[in-house]
Amino acid sequence: MSRLTQRRREAGEEPLPDDVDREPPFLDLVRLEAQARAVLEPSVYDYYAGGAETETTLREAPEAWRSWRLRPRVLRGVDDVDLSTTLLGSPVATPVGVAPWAYQGMAHPEGELATARGAGATGSLMCVSTSANHTVEEVAAVEPESPKWYQLYRLHSPAHTAELARRAGEAGYRALVLTVDLPLLGRRRRDLVHDFALPADLRMANHPTAEDRPELSANASATWTFDDIGRYAELSGLPVVVKGVLRGDDAARCVQAGASAVWVSTHGGRQVDPAVASAHALPEVVTAVRGETAPDGSDVEVYADGGVRTGSDVLTALALGARAVFLGRPTTWGLATGGAAGVTRVLAGLSEELAHTMALCGLGALSEVTPDTVVRSG
Ligand code: GLV
Repeated sequence: MSRLTQRRREAGEEPLPDDVDREPPFLDLVRLEAQARAVLEPSVYDYYAGGAETETTLREAPEAWRSWRLRPRVLRGVDDVDLSTTLLGSPVATPVGVAPWAYQGMAHPEGELATARGAGATGSLMCVSTSANHTVEEVAAVEPESPKWYQLYRLHSPAHTAELARRAGEAGYRALVLTVDLPLLGRRRRDLVHDFALPADLRMANHPTAEDRPELSANASATWTFDDIGRYAELSGLPVVVKGVLRGDDAARCVQAGASAVWVSTHGGRQVDPAVASAHALPEVVTAVRGETAPDGSDVEVYADGGVRTGSDVLTALALGARAVFLGRPTTWGLATGGAAGVTRVLAGLSEELAHTMALCGLGALSEVTPDTVVRSG
């Protein structure tokens, strides 16, 4: 109930006709999160919503994008905005993709399968979490023409990690995303309070034994090294994206070691806290890999996630050098409230906002988004 409705009710007034509680005609992510919270178990909501330690990284992420201001161009005759691009050579309709987030079956009975359908409907790339409730192959089979990437941690069993990489290559994923910011689990206080565990009716589809599990136990230390980048590219036959990079020097070393792309991320504020915001780390990473080439000779790509909530946040990230941005929690709330259609609503809503903001800035295509589109505020 809105505050206005509440006040009218308390004052004994009739509710407004079909009153202001109706859905707003734009993507309201705060409202969507509240709706998701209402349908999720509290421990599940907190697992998705929470961050590590004092949640400083989590809190600061959206505001960090707003440390920049847009510099609109005028008189450009833009009457249509084209959001299409390629990600590691795969065509997508929008640079807004789905970040890998775990255990989607807790949000919706169809879990990752529904997310894949929702992403496919908007022509968005989905990065599928290794901690999924459906197998590598089951998710790959949904909308097989829509590009998907497979995210991997270094699991306790190196043999099983290698096996999943090989299966991802065979199942038709277009890239392997190595998440490197989880040598062990961040301390997530909300989960510790709830003693969070995957609900008993859900399976860890890709982790048949306890040794294979990545992140529900906080004491598992499993560190990859730069040498693993080339090794996993070879094992999977896929280009490797290194996710969780927040420093230019690390980004450069990833590329020297054979990475095709680097993904700037704080893991949704769930690992190091307080960590530098993606919005602040992105320029340094972009500068560090500028002019570098991927193993196939194409330019190294950079992506970002973390606190992207509006079309102007997306545009800021693109201007700072990201080729795509990925949404985690907003797609969680979309899936929890509306299944595949809910995911589509979020991805399409953000993409529409991006197109709208680009049109206002005189930008008709992503290739026109140059670094001088933004200026640091203040
Ligand atoms: C998994 O990656 C998590 O952050 O819970």
